[in-house]
Amino acid sequence: MTNDDWILAPAALGTWAWGDSGEHGDGYFGSELDPAALDQLADMAHAAGLTLWDTALVYGMGRSEQVLGRVLQRFDRADYQLSTKFTPQIAADGVDAVGDMLERSLANLGTDYIDLYWIHNPADVTRWTPRLIPLLEAGTIKHVGVSNHDLAQIQQADRILGEAGFRVEAVQNHYSLLYRGSERAGILDWAGGRGIPFFAYMVLEQGALTGRYGPSNPLPDGSARAQTYNRLLPQLQALTNGLTEIGRSRVASAADVAVAWAIAKGTRPIVGVTKPQHIDGLVRARRIELTGADIEHLEGLADAADVDTRAAWEHVM
Ligand SMILES: NC(=O)c1ccc[n+]([C@@H]2O[C@H](COP(=O)([O-])OP(=O)(O)OC[C@H]3O[C@@H](n4cnc5c(N)ncnc54)[C@H](OP(=O)(O)O)[C@@H]3O)[C@@H](O)[C@H]2O)c1
Repeated sequence: MTNDDWILAPAALGTWAWGDSGEHGDGYFGSELDPAALDQLADMAHAAGLTLWDTALVYGMGRSEQVLGRVLQRFDRADYQLSTKFTPQIAADGVDAVGDMLERSLANLGTDYIDLYWIHNPADVTRWTPRLIPLLEAGTIKHVGVSNHDLAQIQQADRILGEAGFRVEAVQNHYSLLYRGSERAGILDWAGGRGIPFFAYMVLEQGALTGRYGPSNPLPDGSARAQTYNRLLPQLQALTNGLTEIGRSRVASAADVAVAWAIAKGTRPIVGVTKPQHIDGLVRARRIELTGADIEHLEGLADAADVDTRAAWEHVM
């Protein structure tokens, strides 16, 4: 195993929801989290060869990283890869704001290096990107990616890193059937043309595309995601029905098909996993081969839903 294993990862395991308290309806996701189930989830993921974990200091202000660090304790550090993020919007004023935030992540995760460190959101690309270079040189971060950057910002960050002999090695943006801005903006093509992995987050629109939730079974009352998505659920029914229908012939769920769609588009999905069975879903999704007609049909249903799921922290790509 090497520090470069993440480059081959077909998908990543998202742990934003792990930053919640784990009580039903409480926090951003309001999912119930059972520590023993998270251990089981991690065992299943590693057994399936899924060993790239995505988190961020801001997910529950350290809580997601701490829970993940505890869960991963029983594995050798060389057997998993960590992806976490520097968030400029909460950086302190000190001279080493990036290093300081990284130190907090390292302590939370119980490690001394991060495989893939992201600039979480663009703030001032020329101000923040150079500050990652000393951390790359020191080896505390092995690779750098940019998230929520538009194409011009990605290219700018790539130039800045390039002057020091590094480069942008991965891109992470919101990308789902309902939100394909990075495709239209040419970011998928740019990354694909350079052999740079594009990691797609919110492929399931935080649960709204899983088929599990609908007008009669909304997202957990009290959670932030319920506020965003519950009002959209009636408009999403035709799409979730379409996903369910395609899944039926593959012995797969609507969620599996939504993830398979992202894979078919050449992306590596980061799926937010809160239950062991979500790993089974990810394994199934990787085996589904969608036809061109399936993809066209699903994208047509998504366009007809006519919803804008761009999140508050995202700018137009
Ligand atoms: N860079 C960024 O700015 C950014 C922004 C957002 C997310 N992310 C990353 O991307 C990850 C994924 O995004 P996300 O967690 O926000 O949303 P998501 O992956 O679209 O949705 C996650 C939710 O979908 C449900 N789910 C997952 N797998 C399922 C399956 N097989 N069957 C049925 N339901 C399933 C779970 O809901 P229940 O818990 O209700 O079961 C889970 O909480 C995050 O965890 C984070 O690591 C990055």
